[in-house]
Amino acid sequence: MARKIVILTGAGISAESGLGTFRDEGGLWAQHRIEDVATPEGFARDPGLVHRFYNTRRAQALEAAPNPAHEALARLQRDWPGEVVIVTQNVDALHEKAGAEAIHMHGELAGALCFACGHRWPAPLEMVPGTPCPSCNAPAGRPDIVWFGEMPYHMEIIAEHLQSCDLFAAIGTSGQVYPAAGFVEEAAMAGAETVELNLADSGISRAFDDHRVGPASKVVPDWVAELLASP
Ligand code: APR
Repeated sequence: MARKIVILTGAGISAESGLGTFRDEGGLWAQHRIEDVATPEGFARDPGLVHRFYNTRRAQALEAAPNPAHEALARLQRDWPGEVVIVTQNVDALHEKAGAEAIHMHGELAGALCFACGHRWPAPLEMVPGTPCPSCNAPAGRPDIVWFGEMPYHMEIIAEHLQSCDLFAAIGTSGQVYPAAGFVEEAAMAGAETVELNLADSGISRAFDDHRVGPASKVVPDWVAELLASP
């Protein structure tokens, strides 16, 4: 039986598609205060500022195209004889644009959420304070993004996948945000082989058995070609 592969992706996989990462030099968190744009408290304080931040990112993500790393993972998901599960911290739709399926644990820019009734709907390009919910009509629309201090989505199914995978890979993530940064240990404890693919060492590199260092658009297609050559 072919091995089950679980792949965690972070902002680094979309960097070469022109979408900024968070913690690299000049990254999003160098330009914006997390407290202001990525917490429920910040949203309560100044929803206009938060909407402008995500409106800009939503427009950029809409323009962006998948790069060879996204395409290689879609190929792996299509051609691998076993199960390939992609779990992403990213809120862009580049995995889907490349033809892959991904579990978005931090939400999606393309989605809107009503903080009054929990209803979800496709986000308009521009959201503003008081965006009405199409279900309950409350002026309670917010970006469907998981902010700091909030519970990531789909954690139960993600835990099941981590406990039943044979190979775990992390691509383009700095390993500084939990629970995603702890996935490698969960997978390793369940007996999986682990590999990190990143431009540089991350905060959790020591936890991995194997490392591929370089830009995702180069190291990911090489890694996928190796796997598909000997399933
Ligand atoms: N190819 C491969 N890796 C890259 C590339 C590239 N072209 N460019 C940058 N990287 C690596 C960096 O070396 C870094 O380790 O990608 C990582 C990006 O790290 P972060 O900016 O911290 O992004 P991420 O790990 O996805 O952040 C996790 O934090 O801010 C929150 O919710 C947000 O989902 C996000 C979470």
